[in-house]
Amino acid sequence: MTIISKDISKAVALLIAEDIVAIPTETVYGLAGNIYSEKAIKAIFETKKRPFFNPLIVHIPSVDSLSTIVDYIPKKAQLLADAFWPGPITLVLKKLQNIPDLITAGKDTVAVRVPNHPVTLELLNQLKFPLAAPSANPFSSISPTTAEHVETYFKDNIKMVLDGGACKSGIESTIIGFENDEPIIYRLGSTSIEAIEAVVGTIQIKNKKEVTPDAPGMLERHYAPKTITVLTDNVLDSIKKYSDKRIGLLVFNSEFESEAISSQIILSKNGSLEEAASKLYDALHQLDHQDLDVIIAEEFPDYGLGKSINDRLKRATKR
Ligand code: TXA
Ligand code: MG
Repeated sequence: MTIISKDISKAVALLIAEDIVAIPTETVYGLAGNIYSEKAIKAIFETKKRPFFNPLIVHIPSVDSLSTIVDYIPKKAQLLADAFWPGPITLVLKKLQNIPDLITAGKDTVAVRVPNHPVTLELLNQLKFPLAAPSANPFSSISPTTAEHVETYFKDNIKMVLDGGACKSGIESTIIGFENDEPIIYRLGSTSIEAIEAVVGTIQIKNKKEVTPDAPGMLERHYAPKTITVLTDNVLDSIKKYSDKRIGLLVFNSEFESEAISSQIILSKNGSLEEAASKLYDALHQLDHQDLDVIIAEEFPDYGLGKSINDRLKRATKR
């Protein structure tokens, strides 16, 4: 029997009973639990096989609830919340004392956002507590953008996937931390740097290569298919190089012709970076299930969501 269901009241009952439920958001599906339930939060980490040093994002129903989670809101954080919530920006801010250490991995900051999905906003409005929700995939694998992706990953290890259709944005939220009240991008994501800079001015991107990064989503190998994946700015050369292999090709907007290609996905025929982002993970899931020897991914233009797509593709290629 399927665990996929559209029944919001069933999700409410499970979450109140300290169970975990996969929920839709505009970015990717999350694996959600009550932030104040140790039982639920431990179940999230165990189900994902996620190390406890990797903190979770808290999901709240509105900008107004922010003051129940964080201690202090820098002016530029308020500007970003007002401009983008509900939406794919996560703010990392000083936490209130009562936010459990399990959520923040012992840090004195907490990551928080208002997701932009009608089903999950309705769910959050019916609950008296916020939801911690990491992406609903086993640690380091491709994030899920449909209820079916989640079911394939977890089968009956979880009781329910709340079905909200395919995620519209398709890659995770952009994470922004603050140092001396100035915003810094910790993880590229569904909100472009250009859109953020239009609100708060020039913003720095922190390059995460340390062993314990500020945002472990920035770990070098992440979002990875099981099939060997290569990223290239010269697709034809790469096809030649792997011509004796079963090749899956993942390209931006134009089709390539070669007998060596077993399977090809064009992410946006009319060259829309938004459309490409929304289809990226589903394409990787599809190619990863086709028994290919190699996935060749085309590098994207280095602006707007192209930057975020390249970031995920780079991490998908690390071994
Ligand atoms: O779009 C999204 O953000 C999705 C949906 C479900 O909301 N969630 C998501 O969660 O991508 P997850 O757990 O896969 O990624 C959360 C990232 C991790 O890289 C984590 O390290 C970072 O947020 N993070 C959480 N708390 C943090 C903190 N206090 N300081 C720095 N980074 C933090
Ligand atoms: Mg994740």
